[in-house]
Amino acid sequence: MCGIVGYAGKEQADEFLLAGLKRLEYRGYDSAGIATLGDECVNVIKCKGSLDELEDCMETDNTAGEIGIGHTRWATHGVPADCNAHPHQGCEDRFALVHNGIIENYQKLKQDLLERGHKFDSETDTEVLAHLLEEEHESDVLQAMRSMREKIEGSYALAVVDREDSGGIYVLRQASPLVIGEGEDANFLASDIPALLEYTKDFYVLEDGDMAVIDEDEIDIYPGNGQAVEERYFHADWDAEMVEKQGYEHFMLKEIHEQPTVARRFLSDRLKQEEVKMPELEEIWQEDFEKVMITACGTAYYSGQVGRHIIEELARLPVDVEIASELRYKQNFIDEDTLVIVVSQSGETADTLAALEVAQKKGAKILALTNTASSSIARQSDAVVDIMAGPEIAVASTKAYLAMLLGFYLLGLKLAELRGTLSQSELSDYRREILKLPDRIESTLHRTEPQCQKLAETIVDYDSIFFIGRNLDYSLALEGALKLKEISYIHAESYPAGELKHGTLALVEEGVPVFALMTRGKLARKTLSNVEEVKARGGRVIAVASSQLMEERAEDEFYELIKLPVSNELWAGVIAVIPLQLTAYYAAKELDCSIDKPRNLAKSVTVE
Ligand code: F6R
Repeated sequence: MCGIVGYAGKEQADEFLLAGLKRLEYRGYDSAGIATLGDECVNVIKCKGSLDELEDCMETDNTAGEIGIGHTRWATHGVPADCNAHPHQGCEDRFALVHNGIIENYQKLKQDLLERGHKFDSETDTEVLAHLLEEEHESDVLQAMRSMREKIEGSYALAVVDREDSGGIYVLRQASPLVIGEGEDANFLASDIPALLEYTKDFYVLEDGDMAVIDEDEIDIYPGNGQAVEERYFHADWDAEMVEKQGYEHFMLKEIHEQPTVARRFLSDRLKQEEVKMPELEEIWQEDFEKVMITACGTAYYSGQVGRHIIEELARLPVDVEIASELRYKQNFIDEDTLVIVVSQSGETADTLAALEVAQKKGAKILALTNTASSSIARQSDAVVDIMAGPEIAVASTKAYLAMLLGFYLLGLKLAELRGTLSQSELSDYRREILKLPDRIESTLHRTEPQCQKLAETIVDYDSIFFIGRNLDYSLALEGALKLKEISYIHAESYPAGELKHGTLALVEEGVPVFALMTRGKLARKTLSNVEEVKARGGRVIAVASSQLMEERAEDEFYELIKLPVSNELWAGVIAVIPLQLTAYYAAKELDCSIDKPRNLAKSVTVE
């Protein structure tokens, strides 16, 4: 959702800016630009299109300067166009600024500025900031940013350079992520930590209201909430090579293949034969918790749908799952006796953060399940369970989703232990089964990949594809459909299997592919009846099913049968998701889609 970088050091800034933007490109990819601070001038180069186009422009234009800022855009206000690309400048071209976020009152501000004679070059909300800076500037940029901050509403991570001031890069943050990296002979700025791992592992993660100035030697932070600067420090233990493709054609494929490692890492940290280690939950645990509310967006929300079944079945606590963008505006029944679980890979999703704040105001305890321990969501929660999936670069989430499911499995077991809903021997049986999952994930990956690749080639010609399942299998179906549509652009929908006949079956005709998920014993038999209804209308059924449930079925009963290794039916979901991810990946590849950066989407959605 727009990426920002900055460099202040002894080298030319342009090379770093381009490399940093390449690492952030998954946050937005419709236009890009940089500004470098030359001798009493600001060099601004920007254009619509990908970073390759920006790189071409940089070859011919002047980019000299040892201080610079850069931006990769995901359009909100104004179509992708050269004029709407960042950096933006005011009338006098004195400042150049890059912005991630939305200035919600920009129309009123723009109107006032126009009346005062300002001329605008773009349709963006950001450009008002450049004009306001000009108007507010009396002594220095910090003072101008402070006064401007009084006038603007919304979210912003902002970086500014000033032609008349070679002192560095000025930054301001409110509700959009921004980190400062501390280097040897240079300091850096970026929207997230992975973009800077090649240069440093020492970071200051800015909080709302913070301002900062960075140059090659100094990082001066002015905390917005009066806390000590040390509170912002974060040491990242991710490796730079974790954010490389390592020989895979796409990040998504690499991340799918990392899943056995992700599962091993998370489980070895948290699960022993004799116990589930979840001290974060124990610290906030209240005997009088009466219900659980899970809130998140997109794939993270779908992981919560699985989480609901796990927690309800194991811990016998009622669970609601709400889409964060809905929760924030609806009547809710959260109170001090509610445990709220907020799920987010990035930890920066604006809607999820807002839902968290709504729940916090109601007095609920918040537990974050996140892949980013330094994120806003993590910092604002009462307890944080780091799912440890490592940096996820592909826009379509895969390994983080799987790690979220594992997080819910362990939360479910811990809640069951705390509430005494399972006997010691049941708990121990469940733990033993979970410990087998990494090997099963690995074998499923290897066994089903060729099958999914072939299958993908045969389904790409269809306009619509359906996914059905019951109970936990329906929750998995939701994710299967999302994965397919977001990267292959094939229309996909998921339904509870029993619901198909109440309307959607009208769309099933000769050849229409229908994925039927069957990992749960008794329910599989019910879903098989729905499978027959689909077949009777000519639909092609692709069964993704636990092999123990298919022992009596012949392969040719289905268009395709993807068999999953024998497993406890509560945990089989994490295995079933593998062929769904692989099929989506290979379908998108067959259609030559932009797999890691699907159209119209961005990783880390930091606007409402
Ligand atoms: C889809 C996907 C998105 C995210 C959603 C929430 O593959 O990745 O649906 O799950 O935007 O993002 P996080 O988890 O960062 O809060």
